[in-house]
Amino acid sequence: MDERKGMNKMKKAIVIYETTYGYTETMAKAIEKGLKEAGVEVELKKVMAVNSDELKDFDAVVLGCPTYHHDMITTVKTFLFKMRNAGLKGKVGAAFGAYGFSGESVEMIYDTMKHIFEMDVVEPAFKLKSTEVVTIGEKECKEFGQKIAAKII
Ligand SMILES: Cc1cc2nc3c(=O)[nH]c(=O)nc-3n(C[C@H](O)[C@H](O)[C@H](O)COP(=O)(O)O)c2cc1C
Repeated sequence: MDERKGMNKMKKAIVIYETTYGYTETMAKAIEKGLKEAGVEVELKKVMAVNSDELKDFDAVVLGCPTYHHDMITTVKTFLFKMRNAGLKGKVGAAFGAYGFSGESVEMIYDTMKHIFEMDVVEPAFKLKSTEVVTIGEKECKEFGQKIAAKII
């Protein structure tokens, strides 16, 4: 998409998320904004719409999931099994999600990206309480997007 002469090819990130009440989606959209403001081309998709084969085309894979009953939503759990075969070793990875009081999902994604996929993860994993999503969310999520961008640019 970069038509400016002499510029390097634009870096690409995919922001994938699952949500029930929309908080993690709000985070995903603000992370997308942060990445775009930093000059990264972004695709934003719900987890069910992603084919793990397409992940190789991106410089960063960003995955978000809220926490329910101290766990990830099943669609994200299943997706992590598919991601295993996508050859993500060394690629930039980032985990995020909204939570209420414990937020394990975000750590689970982070740990899987780091230890199983051996991705170059953005530290630390990024979680916001649903109350924070509506207050400081936009700013913090954009900053997280910029932090991801800084790792790939
Ligand atoms: C039935 C139910 C169970 C929940 N269990 C947890 C939990 O175990 N740990 C936690 O941190 N938050 C828990 N929450 C809070 C959600 O993670 C929080 O509302 C989050 O913002 C939802 O994000 P979403 O709108 O993207 O789905 C629970 C919420 C509900 C309704």
